[in-house]
Amino acid sequence: MEFYEVLERRKTIRDFSDREVSDEVLEKIVSAAFKAPTNDHLRQLEFVVVRGRENIARIVSPVAENARNIQQSGLEAAAGVMDEDEYAMFVDALPKQQRMLIESNCLVLPFFRQKDYPLCRPQDQSSLNYFASAWAAVENILLAATAEGLACAFRIPIGSEPEHVKRTVHAPEGYEFACLLAIGYPADNAHVCKQKEIRVAERIHRNTW
Ligand SMILES: Cc1cc2nc3c(=O)[nH]c(=O)nc-3n(C[C@H](O)[C@H](O)[C@H](O)COP(=O)(O)O)c2cc1C
Repeated sequence: MEFYEVLERRKTIRDFSDREVSDEVLEKIVSAAFKAPTNDHLRQLEFVVVRGRENIARIVSPVAENARNIQQSGLEAAAGVMDEDEYAMFVDALPKQQRMLIESNCLVLPFFRQKDYPLCRPQDQSSLNYFASAWAAVENILLAATAEGLACAFRIPIGSEPEHVKRTVHAPEGYEFACLLAIGYPADNAHVCKQKEIRVAERIHRNTW
């Protein structure tokens, strides 16, 4: 697939079919992560891949309740306030937060070495370099997965989720993970959220904003 077509086609898909992603394809797309820029030149990324719906369900068990709480409190309040496309995305996404991870049957946890400062208590912007590098790697995975005809969705862990996940997969001390990344083949009727229309020329500010 041509590069700009990959960019165009990459979309968050939260509905997966039963078709399994082979180890070979998975290794190919994870290898894309190691082509991304990295802050320390060491590419200290490690990937925990969890297969099997029961195994995934154990790892993501706190997600359902957290998503439900946000859904109940947040969505009602946001209905008249939020941007229309943003609201439509949340209506699709919130009920699927746990389901999408389980139904993908292939959960990838992109771990990175977090040095010097705790991830959520950085000293300055550069304390987040490891996190930023991990996200550059995740984007490469998303694009490679798209080129392979795969669908991806990810959840940013909140509340007790990071500690639960790290404990359950026996992550070593000093490692954090960027997101809970679901990779699979899209369901036939997979929902694709309406995209915002962006006029790029208006987003480019020449010399001053
Ligand atoms: C930093 C970040 C956090 C996100 N968190 C979540 C999340 O927790 N759950 C989810 O389903 N999608 C999440 N998304 C996906 C966005 O909802 C999605 O990228 C956005 O709606 C644009 O749609 P697109 O990916 O199809 O272009 C997140 C995306 C980013 C970049």
